[in-house]
Amino acid sequence: MSDPSENRPASGSPEAGPLRMAAFRGALVACLLLSAIALWRGYGDGWFVLGVVSAIVLSALAGGPYRKRLGEALQPRPKSSGRSDMAEALLAHIPDPVIMVDRRQVVLEANKAAHRLLPGLKISQPLSFALRSPDVLDGIEEVLEAGTSLRIEYSERVPTERTFEVHIGPLQAEALNVGVQSGVVLFFRDLTEARRLEVMRADFVANASHELRTPLASLLGFVETLQGPARDDLKARERFLEIMRVQAQRMKRLIDDLLSLSRIEMRSHVSPTQKVDLGSLVAPMVETFSPAAKEKGVAIRAVLPERPVHVFGDRDELLRVIENLIENAVKYGESGKAVDITLESIESEAGPYSVLSVQDYGPGIAPEHLPRLTERFYRVDAAHSRDKGGTGLGLAIVKHIVNRHRGQLDIASEPGQGARFTVRLPEAPTGE
Ligand SMILES: Nc1ncnc2c1ncn2[C@@H]1O[C@H](COP(=O)(O)OP(=O)(O)OP(=O)(O)O)[C@@H](O)[C@H]1O
Ligand SMILES: [Mg+2]
Repeated sequence: MSDPSENRPASGSPEAGPLRMAAFRGALVACLLLSAIALWRGYGDGWFVLGVVSAIVLSALAGGPYRKRLGEALQPRPKSSGRSDMAEALLAHIPDPVIMVDRRQVVLEANKAAHRLLPGLKISQPLSFALRSPDVLDGIEEVLEAGTSLRIEYSERVPTERTFEVHIGPLQAEALNVGVQSGVVLFFRDLTEARRLEVMRADFVANASHELRTPLASLLGFVETLQGPARDDLKARERFLEIMRVQAQRMKRLIDDLLSLSRIEMRSHVSPTQKVDLGSLVAPMVETFSPAAKEKGVAIRAVLPERPVHVFGDRDELLRVIENLIENAVKYGESGKAVDITLESIESEAGPYSVLSVQDYGPGIAPEHLPRLTERFYRVDAAHSRDKGGTGLGLAIVKHIVNRHRGQLDIASEPGQGARFTVRLPEAPTGE
């Protein structure tokens, strides 16, 4: 159904001005007529004076300076300006950089994202002043000549390395009747994050296969030896079987770690609801590690609070955190001869939080390795760590678990002085 107001001229339409003028004229004539009737019928001087004054005021309004202002206000805005406002508003809401240039590569329009990407970008100036990429600038020429779109990769190195895919498309403005010259439109799509994930995925598969291939190759070698030359050598068989058991164990541990990492990742958005006393998890873990550590000459010293330190957590996951940190401290900090574990409850504006810290006095970690320690398969000295049975997944698991518990993991180290791993977790309110 059509709206009845559709046929009525809108106040901003070109017909609205003359209509308003006709209304003024009508009112003027009506006032003069009323005052004439009042005079003829003898209603008194008052009515006559009122009619004449209204007529004078109306005619002044209609013919005076108001008429001009009224006319201006009622004038419709030019069509092309309305369109470019809309284009500007649209461009401003596009989160990716968009730039329009004319046939001489002079910038016609650019949105905020484009100005952020290219701070030197200015309207009415050549694009080449702000974008120093011969590939993109040549691409624009190509699109102008051929009239077909093109995709080009463009990398920014400063302030951080970013990669974009630039889509250059011809802009046939005359055909669109938008009152702009023809040229090209450039859309920039940020590929940095996608590339980083691609590299991570490829690295992950390469690392996982490499870690599995080594023990698997060793296992196959021993199986062949046992089937061939060592078939009847009872002593060699015993020794080889033990090596095979250790290698198979290593493969099993790697697969278990990978599975638990992916399980933790899958649950990363679900906060744990179980209330757990951290002290009751640390104490038994210290007891578990103490005998083996003592054999290596490492003393594990723990200072735990008397009262319980409750957090909302997954018991098994928190045990893995404590286990990984103590295991690393004993394994890599062996030369320091001691490992100190403390658990405290600290008050803060955001509420109380628990602080678990594991400190060793071994060789420590050089600063350049610190930011990468929690990456999967990252090891400071891969050969040394592998000799100790490490796969480089322990701290990645710790980091994921701490994140899931809305906590924080800090690693501090002075090379030669040892390393300190600190886990901060928000405490569960008492009484819940
Ligand atoms: N306390 C520490 N002192 C010195 N270096 C450490 C310490 N803890 C970890 N590292 C270094 O960080 C690397 C990564 O540790 P992470 O626990 O993730 O792996 P891993 O111990 O090698 O293997 P996994 O824990 O899977 O058995 C280790 O290989 C080691 O080089
Ligand atoms: Mg470890």
